[in-house]
Amino acid sequence: MENSKYNMDWFKERALASIRAIGSNAWDYSDSLLLYISSGVEKYENLQQEDTLYFKTITNPERAYLQSIAKSVVDSLPFNFEYIDLGPGTEHKEQFFFDELRKQGKEFIYVPVDISEEYLRLAEENATKQGIVTKPVQAAFEELPEVLGRGAAPRFVNIGLTFSNYEPQAILKLLKEIAGENGSAFINSQMRDRVDMAALKNAYAEDAVTLADDKLKLLDLDPNADVSPREATEDVKIWCTVYKPSHMIEEKGIKTGDALLVFQSLRYTPQQLELELTKVSNDFQTFDTGESFIAALVR
Ligand SMILES: C[S@@+](CC[C@H](N)C(=O)[O-])C[C@H]1O[C@@H](n2cnc3c(N)ncnc32)[C@H](O)[C@@H]1O
Repeated sequence: MENSKYNMDWFKERALASIRAIGSNAWDYSDSLLLYISSGVEKYENLQQEDTLYFKTITNPERAYLQSIAKSVVDSLPFNFEYIDLGPGTEHKEQFFFDELRKQGKEFIYVPVDISEEYLRLAEENATKQGIVTKPVQAAFEELPEVLGRGAAPRFVNIGLTFSNYEPQAILKLLKEIAGENGSAFINSQMRDRVDMAALKNAYAEDAVTLADDKLKLLDLDPNADVSPREATEDVKIWCTVYKPSHMIEEKGIKTGDALLVFQSLRYTPQQLELELTKVSNDFQTFDTGESFIAALVR
């Protein structure tokens, strides 16, 4: 990591720049890019162990859902396109689409994008061993409109469930920009009225609460001493209270007792999701099978 553009200095700068005041004594430090640095990747992989509440409430049902809608999604894609996979992850959820694309004889170039070299390598390996032409890109999603420029073929931009880590309008606008004129964006979301939200909150409280430790260290904060233990709310947002601000964050105006939002994985009702989608596009398709997830293809 030290030799690449994305070295520790870059991450620290991004960390500081990402913080925003929300209300008088609260700060948004939810930037999803910062969650998976170094040991964050390992922690995310640990979450996927099959006995965790996280795996049972989220990953496992999501995989079944994606498999069940893969055909309908692929039906809507053109015969030749660029598959931009944002944050491909270790769970190889792209496989359901790969299988269906092959069945339907649709051609594509696979472009996994991640800030993490490790995730990129895993995604590339999995695709190339199946004979898929792959062009991995190490970048921040926010840099993509510039880094990718205009494509030769239409784009299918898939962020999947990582959609939940962002404020919806901000990420939908970015996805549309990356997709370009004839492209589409694919998002997934879990419905708050179709899942046991208390169990979900516990899944995050039990299994995901140390995910933000390294992210806090980027701000020169000791995750065990300078902030309170992280707490999950039902929306799902993970907060902590600042006990002892570092110089870095003091300069931002953060004080002892202020609340810091370190991570979010937002849930919606179907109506809320629909409303967010309507705000950015009048041409979108949702895939509602009655399961707890609803994905959407936005043009
Ligand atoms: C939750 S993980 C894997 C998600 C995977 N798509 C899944 O559904 O299992 C999210 C991935 O996205 C990457 N990521 C998140 N925000 C990013 C950003 N703004 N720019 C680049 N990579 C980002 C992280 O490095 C991580 O590898």
